[in-house]
Amino acid sequence: MKTGQLDVLLGLQWGDEGKGKVVDYLSSRYDIVARYQGGPNAGHTVVVDGKNVVLHTIPSGIFHDEVKNLIGNGVVVDPITLQREFELLHQLGIDAKERVYLSRRVHLILPTHRWLDLASEAAKKKNKIGSTLRGIAPTYMDKTGRNGIRVGDLFTKGFVEQYQNLKSKHLRLLEMYPPVEFPLEEEEEKWWNAIDFVRTLQIVDGEQWIWQALEHNARILAEGAQGAMLDLDYGTYPYVTSSYTGSAGVCIGLGVPPSYIDEVIGIAKAYTTRVGSGPFPTEIEGEMAEYLRQKGHEYGATTGRPRRCGWLDLVQLRYSARLNGVNRIILTKLDVLDELEEIPYAKAYKIDNTISTSMPYRLDDVPIHPVYITTEGWRTSLDHITSWEDLPGEVLDYVELIQHSVEVPIHGVSVGPERHQLIPRY
Ligand code: IMP
Repeated sequence: MKTGQLDVLLGLQWGDEGKGKVVDYLSSRYDIVARYQGGPNAGHTVVVDGKNVVLHTIPSGIFHDEVKNLIGNGVVVDPITLQREFELLHQLGIDAKERVYLSRRVHLILPTHRWLDLASEAAKKKNKIGSTLRGIAPTYMDKTGRNGIRVGDLFTKGFVEQYQNLKSKHLRLLEMYPPVEFPLEEEEEKWWNAIDFVRTLQIVDGEQWIWQALEHNARILAEGAQGAMLDLDYGTYPYVTSSYTGSAGVCIGLGVPPSYIDEVIGIAKAYTTRVGSGPFPTEIEGEMAEYLRQKGHEYGATTGRPRRCGWLDLVQLRYSARLNGVNRIILTKLDVLDELEEIPYAKAYKIDNTISTSMPYRLDDVPIHPVYITTEGWRTSLDHITSWEDLPGEVLDYVELIQHSVEVPIHGVSVGPERHQLIPRY
């Protein structure tokens, strides 16, 4: 039984497509925004009253007074980051406690998970994943290994012992790695304080809460973090995150059957970026990469690292759209390309002298040469444009060639960081 609406919004590239802004824009059409995977490795930037606000755990619907926000069971939560986010919102005059709900099945990130992340990355030397070091992989490992601690456990008698046991296991594991510094005592103190705070939040059986909301006709938006190419199974493994970033992750991460999902909205940047290590066929270097980085403010919202930049990759985009059953795409950051005479994009890959338009098993096994085509740039500022009809012909050409190749309609474009700079098509 389902009577409301459940749409999904997810990133189609390697993350940082501008999802936070689009969720914020769309939120007024929904009653609930729900995060279904990932953790504080995410950094969703929303511009509120001209100020950049970065959220790591709380869904981007929080900036709309009427919208409730669920942190679903597929998310891993660091109590310290979560408490900080509530404090930040409080300073902005938002009482998030009223409108944030936390699933009882959410797994907790312990300080020693972060320590393990640090030690494991340091030990990888040249082959680092480029993790955000927020303890994501070790926490999901404990989840699948059935050792994890969940929010619901905070209310059980054995909680402290459960914590000590897991911490001891981590300390034993850490002996396998070359030593790395970590201020454990200090972090544990913050963690226990934050645990007291988490106990005061609205904790629910997330899946049943969602079913009930749907029964009462709620419109729900499931907000993805990271991007399709960072998915544990379908991304550029092993250079991926440890959760299911795609639309399939919604079922696991919120407790809803596939048949409940209505629209899947894919967010794609008008060019491509990636932060961290791993293959990126259309990556460029030198002056043009630096230009895109500066103009697009391409620095990680969580770690501040410079993002790698490159051109739009239609092989990759088509793969992500198909994989996730995307019904419509919103193209972001078009304004970053405003001054370019010509805009290159990859239509196919040349691998061993063979032209292919399908995604290979690995992107880092053999050299991949993107087959580039260029389209004419619009060479004018899109900054002030507010309606689809006013977009220059060259923008419409770019939009057309993308939707033709990906076989999914583009329903909107974003031309700047502010809420009003998202131009719907219909
Ligand atoms: P982890 O999830 O922190 O372990 O990082 C694994 C990989 O995913 C690294 O390459 C990170 O840079 C990347 N990553 C994780 N979260 C995000 C995100 O929100 N945006 C972009 N890249 C991310």
